[in-house]
Amino acid sequence: MSVGVVREVAEGERRVALVPKVVATLVNKGVDVVVESGAGEQALIPDALYTEAGATIGDAWSADVVVKVVAPTDDEVAKLKSGQTLIGFLAPRNQENQIGALKAAGVQAFAVEAIPRISRAQAMDALSSQGNVSGYKAVILAAEKSTRYFPMLTTAAGTVKPATALILGVGVAGLQALATAKRLGARTTGYDVRPEVAEQVKSVGAQWLDLGIDAAGEGGYARELTEDERAQQQKALEEAIKGFDVVITTALVPGRPAPRLVTAAAVEGMKPGSVIVDLAGETGGNCELTEPGQNVVKHDVTICSPLNLPAGMPEHASELYSKNLLALIELMLDENGAIAPDFSDEVLAKSCVTREADA
Ligand code: NAI
Repeated sequence: MSVGVVREVAEGERRVALVPKVVATLVNKGVDVVVESGAGEQALIPDALYTEAGATIGDAWSADVVVKVVAPTDDEVAKLKSGQTLIGFLAPRNQENQIGALKAAGVQAFAVEAIPRISRAQAMDALSSQGNVSGYKAVILAAEKSTRYFPMLTTAAGTVKPATALILGVGVAGLQALATAKRLGARTTGYDVRPEVAEQVKSVGAQWLDLGIDAAGEGGYARELTEDERAQQQKALEEAIKGFDVVITTALVPGRPAPRLVTAAAVEGMKPGSVIVDLAGETGGNCELTEPGQNVVKHDVTICSPLNLPAGMPEHASELYSKNLLALIELMLDENGAIAPDFSDEVLAKSCVTREADA
């Protein structure tokens, strides 16, 4: 059984699918690991560390199982052959995905985004490991762009009030953002449409903003709001947002455009020098004035819409993602160490987006 670690080619992508520590674990299990030369370069991991861990540097695209971070390009799909397995963020809900091409090529592909959010699958949950990085980095970015301190300071030159931070959408990224902003000294408040989140928000020392809307959906995710609910939410948030120095938005509904939570009027109502970090830029943004991928200043408020924050912290993002992949690969191995996914296991059945047999 061989696992191939390929070099990511997407612009700005600095992560690598497996780090040497995890490569060594696989090698100890009798797996041959082949690494494409330079695969770890952007994460500052030289080829030599992979060979020390027991890998060989070579044609990673020919391995039985090819592991990636982001979805393959057309050229990359063309390198794969029938019978191989591919694992990565394959964007199954994105209209433009490569799943049709992988199916036509006879590749068995697993999309980590489709791993069910159940307790047993937590170790494999790449959305969570990378969402944590995003939530943390969003706060660091907000602090960098802010014209104000986060913590309260009492100095000889006077006292500074703590910043107030509102996190809209408290899933994995939002919870980490609340915890990080708190550690930096801000007064934190969280808001979500899933009522069960209130307890989690309070557990990280934040206030819960209750707007009375319950939109819990399937599988732990939120559902899309009705027109009336959306109007009610936007109006209430417009009022609430005025009082905050920092707003970080992470609200997503699977397969739908990002919900619009922060209107242009809400931005206009914020104090000059305030900051919004919108993590939903990829699906259109939670703020009406967001320009995906850009940092813009509107009404003297800085609005940042970073599209791939985990790529900006490649060491830990790659390490955690590697551990997710290791847990998933282990689940697929049979007693002889061969890849033999048991599709009666819902984790594998749901994350498999195309099978050899489908071709
Ligand atoms: P997500 O990235 O899909 O969405 C982020 C947050 O936005 C969610 O909390 C959602 O409720 C909220 N949201 C959506 N529409 C909104 C609106 N109109 N207004 C305000 N907030 C809105 O969520 P994420 O982080 O992927 O988490 C999804 C679920 O998975 C959660 O229930 C989480 O607790 C659960 N989970 C389970 C795990 C496990 O057991 N393996 C691991 C991690 C998460």
